[in-house]
Amino acid sequence: MESSLTKPDSTDLTAMPDIPTSASEQPYDVVILGGGSGGYACALRSAQLGLKVALVEKDKVGGTCLHRGCIPTKALLHAAEVADTAREGAKFGVNSSVESIDMEAVLKYQDGVVGRLHKGLQGLVSSAAIDYITGVGHVTSATTVSVGGRVLTGRHLVLATGSYARTLPGLELGDRIMTSDQALRLTRVPESVVVLGGGVIGVEFASVFRSFGAAVTIVEALPRLVPAEEPSVSTALLRAFRKRKITVKTDARLASATPDDKGVEVVLEDGTALRAELLLVAVGRGPVTDDMGFDEAGIARDRGFVTTDERLRTSVPGVYAVGDIVPGLQLAHRGFAHGIFVAEDIAGLAPSPVIDEFIPKVTYCDPEIASVGLTEAQARDRFGDATTYDYNLGGNGKSQILATSGSVKLVKAPDGRVVGIHMIGARMGEQIGEAQLIVGWEGTAEDVAPMIHAHPTQNEALGEAHLALAGKPLHAHA
Ligand code: NAI
Repeated sequence: MESSLTKPDSTDLTAMPDIPTSASEQPYDVVILGGGSGGYACALRSAQLGLKVALVEKDKVGGTCLHRGCIPTKALLHAAEVADTAREGAKFGVNSSVESIDMEAVLKYQDGVVGRLHKGLQGLVSSAAIDYITGVGHVTSATTVSVGGRVLTGRHLVLATGSYARTLPGLELGDRIMTSDQALRLTRVPESVVVLGGGVIGVEFASVFRSFGAAVTIVEALPRLVPAEEPSVSTALLRAFRKRKITVKTDARLASATPDDKGVEVVLEDGTALRAELLLVAVGRGPVTDDMGFDEAGIARDRGFVTTDERLRTSVPGVYAVGDIVPGLQLAHRGFAHGIFVAEDIAGLAPSPVIDEFIPKVTYCDPEIASVGLTEAQARDRFGDATTYDYNLGGNGKSQILATSGSVKLVKAPDGRVVGIHMIGARMGEQIGEAQLIVGWEGTAEDVAPMIHAHPTQNEALGEAHLALAGKPLHAHA
């Protein structure tokens, strides 16, 4: 079968008007380069604080998250969940099946979601007294950005240029070998896919493709899937994926990938040959920081990432960096937090720095993964010891109703604080809010145990895990 791609959506129906040239001659308090999660959050907060702000974006406000990342992929994942629900209806006594997956209709649904959010965001930006400038910006000094022949002067510059999908040397990207950018626009479900990389993007796309009926093989270089997560979560995901008939090859590295008319021949370093219609390359995202004058302005970089202190100040006074170009977690909500932080710092509000350790993470594959704080190994490294409790969703009524399995693992420091929470199971991403408060507010099991969790909810699993850790398990063993 042929796989085909639609052109990326290039119609920006509600493009915002640029400011008149004369306005660009006025000095700004803040000039922001990049209108993705970090950049637009910084612009909105700066404007709220009465700062004079210019936001420069070469494509569409919203950036990767809105147009090529979080939002469209989660729409795909929701369509995948609908397919699974239809396929597995008989398990609940509802006889149903999946007739076909109409990718054109899936894309229409996806585009509708993205389009509405984009329009809403454009409305927010244009009503917020932000000078929005479309064009490719270049840093020309510590206080200036040039865009389309104009020079914007700012007391502060904020670099928010985001990230791109990395590939590997020697791979020829096209309609057989692609990154998530192109995979989001497939107009047909491929029969078979090899996913290179078992990190966040790899497992999310593997989950979607499998739910849509493709044969899926994941090739991961490290010994386990989602290597940044708690090892027991990786094991549970592997088990769940095997049950879904997703093939997983860990400790496996790509030797070559050769596209042809019908698909792609993938050869691993151990000599294994895999044949698929499509190879999805999901080996990480790199920072977009080249060729924009950063080096010439003296802004220090390390392997492409802009180096900053904890207050997100670069090596050049007055110049900040936010979001994916700052080493650490590459998450939209981290970008939002960075953007807000910098705006408040510039306005003199002395905000508290954003600490990666307290940032919640959710991976939206089926089953979902949600975590915050330290893994057991990290806690042992830091404190010399740690106690854990692993609550099995087998004892959680709502999880049984949903026919999902999984767990909630708590990591306790020697002083009693719960310093890490690691969850896996269908829909468990929804539970991250409470988990984040417990870890962020340095709660103990004894603080959480008396909190009443509604029955029957999956949220109850968090309550039950803390009851057990406090020595008084209810629907669990001690
Ligand atoms: P990643 O860093 O999460 O995973 C890449 C994986 O590829 C790693 O496990 C790595 O060991 C593996 N790998 C690297 N080279 C390889 C090779 N030659 N052969 C086989 N495996 C190889 O990066 P990913 O998944 O591309 O995601 C990029 C970023 O986007 C991440 O920081 C992620 O957090 C973010 N993201 C977050 C989402 C979420 O929060 N739900 C969704 C999608 C992306």
